[in-house]
Amino acid sequence: MARISYDDDTAAAYQEVREIPRDGLAQWRDALRRHLNPVPGTTLADIGAGTGTFAATFSDWFGLAVLAVEPSAAMRAQIPRRPGIQVLAGDAGAIPVPDASADGAWLSTVLHHIPDLEAAAREIRRVLRPGAPVLIRQGFPDRADWADTWWVHHWFPETTRTVATWPSVERTCEAFGAAGFGLDSLERISETYRTSLADFLAKADTFRQADSPMRALTEEEFRRGRERLRRAADNAAETPEPRTSWLDLLVLR
Ligand SMILES: C[S@@+](CC[C@H](N)C(=O)[O-])C[C@H]1O[C@@H](n2cnc3c(N)ncnc32)[C@H](O)[C@@H]1O
Repeated sequence: MARISYDDDTAAAYQEVREIPRDGLAQWRDALRRHLNPVPGTTLADIGAGTGTFAATFSDWFGLAVLAVEPSAAMRAQIPRRPGIQVLAGDAGAIPVPDASADGAWLSTVLHHIPDLEAAAREIRRVLRPGAPVLIRQGFPDRADWADTWWVHHWFPETTRTVATWPSVERTCEAFGAAGFGLDSLERISETYRTSLADFLAKADTFRQADSPMRALTEEEFRRGRERLRRAADNAAETPEPRTSWLDLLVLR
């Protein structure tokens, strides 16, 4: 069970406000190059692929063959159907591909939805070729100042309550270690959004729908956060300021 239901409304909200424009992902492009060493036809299992934003981006950037595995029918329906992307119903504990058929696995903001991390790690071990990396894009609660740079957290600080329950780096390494993976690297990757504060304010309800820590806020916490945002938006320049935050890339092999 995911922490929130990824139904039609959530899928539409996710696509509207959570997908990061490609020009904000330059550092991820560089990191994928370094850790996956992609060539056209390299097979990447995108586990918990969501609306397929990374599947499409990676297929365009590197000519990858992406296996986009996603449990929610509503999210899956948004994944672009085109050569280079195979859309599959499945989840991290049941990946519908043969043994040793992928050159890498990509899990972007998915770990906290996986109910049994050990079982998922074993299943990922099964589908990867020996030596292939698991690339995890994630906010980890034990990377202390992570949330400080997350712009949503700036306005809605109580989102920390939910993030604190997500798997830590240590817990993740332990689960994947039991399946035979070792820590390869852990680095911060920055990403940039260009949404103006006025836009964010106008779409605050949509963000709340699309984001599990925002969903867990009480009405009062949400109202207070929106008020902070309103005051900041009133004082902000009209031109959208680029906002940079970072997430971790944890690589296991
Ligand atoms: C926050 S979204 C991230 C989507 C995408 N990876 C991205 O970064 O845009 C989390 C996704 O994980 C999926 N999910 C939930 N439980 C899962 C599981 N056990 N295994 C794999 N994916 C899961 C959800 O359906 C949802 O699409």
